Amino acid sequence: MDVRKAIETRRAYRSLGPIDITDDLIHDLARSASLAPSCFNKQPWNYVFVKDSIKLQSLEEAYSQGNEWANDASLVVAVLSSKEMDCVIKDREYFLFDTGLATMNMILRATELGMVAHPIAGFSPKKVRQLLDIPDEMTVIALLIIGKHSMDESNMTEKQILSEKDRPTRKNIDEFIHIDVFTV
Ligand SMILES: Cc1cc2nc3c(=O)[nH]c(=O)nc-3n(C[C@H](O)[C@H](O)[C@H](O)COP(=O)(O)O)c2cc1C
Repeated sequence: MDVRKAIETRRAYRSLGPIDITDDLIHDLARSASLAPSCFNKQPWNYVFVKDSIKLQSLEEAYSQGNEWANDASLVVAVLSSKEMDCVIKDREYFLFDTGLATMNMILRATELGMVAHPIAGFSPKKVRQLLDIPDEMTVIALLIIGKHSMDESNMTEKQILSEKDRPTRKNIDEFIHIDVFTV
């Protein structure tokens, strides 16, 4: 078992080259997501796997400025859920948490298979909803932009080219962990 390797290898790369999208790949990614834990095993996630080239092209108009690099995706996965599909315990709503857990499984499996699976929030949910026929009651949480890491920098800003080379810095763990009690 080498989870650590997948965790360390995963990067939100923006320079993407083409890959073949097969039914086996889609099933493999979906199966990885489905094994995630969820509150009362409610499994609140839904995914639209977009692989058709015309559909992928139509999604380009939904990406926010700065996400033009996503135009090179071979596969885009729309990550969906709704509050009603998962536990609500007093003021704690679990659908985003559980869908995030499942989606990270998918991202790590894609990493293990040698792909880039880059989540983005920079898109118009209204346009994505229209293009993919997503019902109003579902939240379009994120898109996963999937391809193979390439060296082509043409669709990126200067800042994005820099972050391609070095992983963006992380907080020191002392800034977010607390031992035994919460400390400020
Ligand atoms: C919820 C979420 C939304 C994100 N939205 C975008 C985005 O719109 N555009 C983008 O280029 N990267 C986006 N990212 C990627 C982050 O910028 C990236 O994960 C972060 O800078 C850390 O880099 P690393 O994943 O390579 O370690 C997003 C990541 C997450 C989890």
